[in-house]
Amino acid sequence: MSQKIWGGRFNDSTDELVERFTESVSFDKALAPFDIKGSIAHAKMLARQGIISDEDARKIINGLENIKQKIDAGEFEWDIRLEDVHMNIEAALSKDIGDAGRRLHTARSRNDQVATDVRLYLKHEAIEVDGLIGEILYALLEQAKKYKDIVMPGLTHLQHAQPVLWSHYMMAYFEQFRRDKERILDAFKRIDVMPLGSGSIAGVDFPVDRDFVMKELGFSSLSRNSMDAVSDRDFIAEFIFCSSLIMVHLSRLSEDLVLWASQEFDFVELPESYCTGSSIMPQKKNPDCPEIIRAKTGRVIGDLVSILTILKGLPMTYNRDLQEDKEPLFDTCTTVKMCLKVMTGLLHGLIPKKERLMEACKKGFLTATDLADYLVEKGVAFRTAHEIVGRAVSYCAREGKELWELSIDELRSFHPLIGEDCFDAITISGSINRRRSKGGTALEQVNQAIKEAEEWLKGQSS
Ligand code: ARG
Repeated sequence: MSQKIWGGRFNDSTDELVERFTESVSFDKALAPFDIKGSIAHAKMLARQGIISDEDARKIINGLENIKQKIDAGEFEWDIRLEDVHMNIEAALSKDIGDAGRRLHTARSRNDQVATDVRLYLKHEAIEVDGLIGEILYALLEQAKKYKDIVMPGLTHLQHAQPVLWSHYMMAYFEQFRRDKERILDAFKRIDVMPLGSGSIAGVDFPVDRDFVMKELGFSSLSRNSMDAVSDRDFIAEFIFCSSLIMVHLSRLSEDLVLWASQEFDFVELPESYCTGSSIMPQKKNPDCPEIIRAKTGRVIGDLVSILTILKGLPMTYNRDLQEDKEPLFDTCTTVKMCLKVMTGLLHGLIPKKERLMEACKKGFLTATDLADYLVEKGVAFRTAHEIVGRAVSYCAREGKELWELSIDELRSFHPLIGEDCFDAITISGSINRRRSKGGTALEQVNQAIKEAEEWLKGQSS
């Protein structure tokens, strides 16, 4: 007889190549703590319902706890011939405690077991990711508060557009990561569903108590359809999507920092502890962390494409293809957590270069819109004002001057309604102060935004 758990039906033993091809224990052993937790809850329930004896349940629970200790100590021997984490643990249990161990799989299939394990694992990971987003949000707030009134050129099309506050810029990323946090918490509701008791497809024919297992494992609800429960991996796709978006936000911030640390921009000083040097050019201080984050974004997006592609052609219900859900998921969790930590650390040491940023604001006619708006306030139609200021800008470009460097007479030559008070609009600080619309860059608005964000963040952790 084959030594496989499912060997009863087989005469020939599995080809060694096939064993290596179909095994998942080399990676799904990461689910071991959750597998054991799930099995303990299942065994307790079986005993409560009189499906196995109390004595057997006690042996199973002790046996599983011993196995857990061995795994934690690195003393457990994983065997690919036993395919996956579930069968490795079950086989070890049966070896240790005999017949009682062989009763554990009553009223359960690996199909509902693996779905339960992955959900328990992902609940744990989602909570960690949520916490790490909280950390980066604090780091962004810290930046906004510490360098509140530093001005910088706001860019559109990577061209100078309008002056903004450094704090306003940092709070823009705060909003992006705030939504990421909300998305993870929303996805959590759909992860937090207990599939055990669905059996392999149709439910089980023992008097199980699914509600008991749900409470025991800390799930909030029960899956409503056994076929859906064993075939659904939406929750994995959704989590990887949420993570992809976190990565996209990290990547955009990384791109800013790489550009801004360059000699051409020279807007920021990156902390030395987050940079590396060159093996040949002694002067180099390279922004490797944001570069690697930018590249790792590609990995996570790849994980998303993998999971969606794995799912797209699957007939109802469980198919072995689903075993391939784990590596993209594990990779996503490891990557997104690491990248959030690295970016948070980098933000704590990031220094915006105040003078340089101010210098940069003086190039590119950042306040042209303000002059147009000023004329509109004097009664000129916006399109006309736009054209007049366009002419003034072209004049400045020829003369090598900025708008605020023109004399009042020069300015008046473009429109008689331009008066001395136009300088309140066309200086950098004047321009910023005028942007008082809700969500704008005027200091009073940014102060408001910081206050709201701080209160929101406090509410999140309580
Ligand atoms: N290792 C399998 C997986 O990850 C466990 C479920 C196996 N079920 C089965 N019917 N062969 O999906």
